[in-house]
Amino acid sequence: MLKLPGLIDPHVHLREPGATHKEDFDSGTSAALAGGFTTVLSMPNTKPPIFDKSTLALALDAAKRKAHCDYGQYIGAGPDNAETAASLSGTTAGLKMYLDSTFGELRLDDMSLWMPHFEKYPRNQPIVAHSESRTMAAAILFAAIYDRPIHIAHVSLKEEILIIKAAKERGIKVTCEVAPHHLFLHKGDLSGLTPGRGEVRPRLATKEDVDSLWANMDVIDCFATDHAPHTLAEKDSDNPPPGFPGLETALPLLLTAVSESRLTIPDLITKMHTNPRKIFNLPEQPETWVEVDENARYEIKASEQFTRCGWTPFEGWKVKGKVIRVVLRGVEAFKNGKNLVQPGFGRNVRG
Ligand code: NCD
Ligand code: ZN
Repeated sequence: MLKLPGLIDPHVHLREPGATHKEDFDSGTSAALAGGFTTVLSMPNTKPPIFDKSTLALALDAAKRKAHCDYGQYIGAGPDNAETAASLSGTTAGLKMYLDSTFGELRLDDMSLWMPHFEKYPRNQPIVAHSESRTMAAAILFAAIYDRPIHIAHVSLKEEILIIKAAKERGIKVTCEVAPHHLFLHKGDLSGLTPGRGEVRPRLATKEDVDSLWANMDVIDCFATDHAPHTLAEKDSDNPPPGFPGLETALPLLLTAVSESRLTIPDLITKMHTNPRKIFNLPEQPETWVEVDENARYEIKASEQFTRCGWTPFEGWKVKGKVIRVVLRGVEAFKNGKNLVQPGFGRNVRG
């Protein structure tokens, strides 16, 4: 039995408030525990989006009542909430800036709208940027100009990882995360998925991009699922929203890569515990660990998942490595496929 520290996922969409038919703090944090995560940081592109005190209270109240694992909540950067977001930073996981188009209403196009956020947001928390390609380079330039930390969400391209590497070598305060689907799928793999199910932002990239992420593993600070559940009916509709669920497939996929010697257990612990904890300034969870059967082989099945969305892009994949038991703050929280703690057991990491 392999023992891992409680894993941290710095990028999940739990859909509360506003779209609890896709997921909520109850189902989403149950999925987290089943996947070996004891802390999740929840994104603000909800309905309404989380951008001020009252919308933040909507998310935090729901989380307090329903979460099974520990959590933090991001606030979203809007055109005129830089002051407010900075003043609420003591109770939020960080500031999320949507600089490229994706699911939800939060998006800042004009760079003059980025400035107040880079100026005002406290430097003990990163700004997390959804920024792709050249927008990402612009966001890193902002971090350099304002001399503050920035964390690049879901890196997927060769050009992105190479620029991040160069920026780090020059001392710019940039960190980054990669989602498992960008490590295990490229756009040529979409044939097994209907077009709607293949939609995700950033889009699946080329095999060359995927290979460059693996080749630059040392530049990747964190693995983050970008767990973005939408129901099967929505994914198979005429206007499919982008996003893949990921909380329950990330660790088995990565452990399978370990079993194939493409990754090591220390890599996994660094990118799923040590680094996210440091980057997001998260409290220690005493007496917390995850027990994994490294040799268990099984097939991924959406029907066995806790997420409410009812599907996974990895349906039928054969993996090696299974979460058997999770102990969170001294309490047995998950064992043999069963969630053992009540909604409300989870704590706010900024509590
Ligand atoms: C995310 C969602 O559905 O909220 N979708 C996605 O494809 N990743 C939004 C996002 O993270 O950009
Ligand atoms: Zn996301």
